[in-house]
Amino acid sequence: MNVKKAIIPAAGLGTRFLPATKSVPKEMLPVVDTPTLEYVVREATEAGIKDILIITGRQKTAIEDYFDKAYELEDILKKKGDTARLKRIQSIWKNINIHTVRQKEPKGLGHAILCGEAFVGNEPFAVLLGDDIVYNPKKPCLKQLIEVHDQYQASVLGVQTVKDAHVHKYGIIGGEKIAERLYSVKGMVEKPSLKEAPSNAAILGRYVLSPKIFAYLKDTLPGKGNEIQLTDALMALSQKEKMLAYDFEGKRYDVGDKLGFLEATVEFALRDQALSQDFKAYLKELMKTL
Ligand code: UTP
Repeated sequence: MNVKKAIIPAAGLGTRFLPATKSVPKEMLPVVDTPTLEYVVREATEAGIKDILIITGRQKTAIEDYFDKAYELEDILKKKGDTARLKRIQSIWKNINIHTVRQKEPKGLGHAILCGEAFVGNEPFAVLLGDDIVYNPKKPCLKQLIEVHDQYQASVLGVQTVKDAHVHKYGIIGGEKIAERLYSVKGMVEKPSLKEAPSNAAILGRYVLSPKIFAYLKDTLPGKGNEIQLTDALMALSQKEKMLAYDFEGKRYDVGDKLGFLEATVEFALRDQALSQDFKAYLKELMKTL
């Protein structure tokens, strides 16, 4: 079956980004001039997905407003003859079906995905974390995973190799290499110490999942911080069904982390045609003073 739907969890508290996240969802923080969440939605649409469910929560109404048509603003831009900006803001909602549902309490990533069960039904679906951007102008990360899914008809986790010092921050897979960049998943550990880690292949915010995951999420007991962990349900699913991990190509930014956000801002600004020349000159001058 083809992957036609995606869930984007965006209901987390964003405590690492307080105080901004007291009233601004971290997924709406702009990287240059575009909210993180729009980069993520664009990745899904570029992978051929038109139906996207965003999991939101309290204090996150800015997300619904952003993906809605802005009549007054569009009218003002039209009267001004500012066609470029008009087209740009219309591109946010045109040709995409954005659905939203509220996670009533931030009970973890696993719980957030469970809120999408009725939307997904009984078909494979994609998950993209709302605070992770993956830059790959040639082939979006999700498209790479969907191609693997279509070939093998199995769940696929997006992974990349992380440094030893960062292993403790991620879900780490154990696996057997079966093709170029592709692993058969044989187990996984959530946030292991380096000693416990079966490899350095970290699960990084992109997944194509079998709908069977919902049954395992329902059976998953809350763990650390009273949160339902996706990794626990993935582990159970991997024991029953074929599960693959694909070492995707692309630069990934954890925008929910302050350093990750700054890295994304600098690098996207350097890629922006209108900004890059002046920004590079500024950075060069600044470097002399550091
Ligand atoms: P994170 O763990 O990065 O989000 O979840 P967080 O809990 O908001 O982060 P901090 O540690 O407090 O800063 C990854 C993604 O899953 C979503 C988040 O919004 C983020 O996009 N998420 C997390 C939910 O939708 N619901 C949750 O209960 C937890």
